[in-house]
Amino acid sequence: MKHSIEELRREIDTFTIRTADELEAFRLRFMVRKGSVAKLFNQLKDLSPADRPGYGQLLNQLKQSADRKYEDAEKQLEVLSSSAGKKRIDLTLPGRKQYPGSEHPVQKVLGDMKQIFRAMGFTIATGPELELDSYNFDMLNFPANHPARDMQDTFFITRNEGEDDQLLRTHTSPVQIRVMLDEKPPIRVICPGKVYRNEAISARSYCVFHQLEGLYIDKSVSFADLKATIYSFAKQMFGSDVQLRFRPSFFPFTEPSAEVDVTCYLCGGKGCRVCKQSGWLEILGCGMVHPNVLKNCSIDPDEFSGFAFGMGVDRTALLRYKIDDIRLLFENDVRMLEQFSQ
Ligand code: PHE
Repeated sequence: MKHSIEELRREIDTFTIRTADELEAFRLRFMVRKGSVAKLFNQLKDLSPADRPGYGQLLNQLKQSADRKYEDAEKQLEVLSSSAGKKRIDLTLPGRKQYPGSEHPVQKVLGDMKQIFRAMGFTIATGPELELDSYNFDMLNFPANHPARDMQDTFFITRNEGEDDQLLRTHTSPVQIRVMLDEKPPIRVICPGKVYRNEAISARSYCVFHQLEGLYIDKSVSFADLKATIYSFAKQMFGSDVQLRFRPSFFPFTEPSAEVDVTCYLCGGKGCRVCKQSGWLEILGCGMVHPNVLKNCSIDPDEFSGFAFGMGVDRTALLRYKIDDIRLLFENDVRMLEQFSQ
């Protein structure tokens, strides 16, 4: 008996517990009812009554030390596993900042413009940026080889001097043509979008920019309707005390035509660097749709009339947000864009 007890103590002492599986193996081997310690307890009854108390005490000590070893190992494993869990998060690492994105300043201005015209009953129409020469020029009453084409320096994609030639649209006016070919009057649309011109790039002009075109065709639409529409838009966009100036101008697709200036909304018309001391800022071109354009789209000019206007969007964004270089609007530098995230 003495020998068996010593043997078992050695086994218990040398048993290594480093994992949860080893802990369970230890329990099954020494601590359960049919384990090695319990087996020796069973043998006590075979001993002489004189030997029993002594061995009984030894066996109790053995059982206690096995219990203690089990409990200590269990605690140790718990500490290890919870601290291992914590280690996966290094609280000293700098966080990874997420930039959620924001509306581009041009889109904010465009959004305001759309809102104003939508409230006046205009719907939104779009067209392709890669456009047919005929829609960009011919159908808009630009005669072939007419110098008016030189007003807009064009990026041609194909150049066979035919109406099938493709180009990057130089203005949003070809969308007027597309709408008039598709729909019959009354027509009341705005056409926002990107346009392209082959111009020298500088802080004030870029090879791509945004326009918003408007077109209204119905029976007996007059220049007075055009003026009222532009006045209403300008007051909502630039403030109720804004003044407007209509200057006679020329566009092949409108007759009569005008360019419209608003009082400079930086200096209120007193004169500043931005308006070049004139007190006025040019915002759009407009006019009554030329009868030839209506005819080109199978709309009878004796029955219907209409007006059109086209305005730049980017310059308003530059002025509103006090950005002094148009190129910043197209470079998509996050340091610039994230300033508009509210
Ligand atoms: N398409 C003209 C431009 O880009 C603007 C315009 C549109 C003028 C509609 C009159 C009518 O310069």
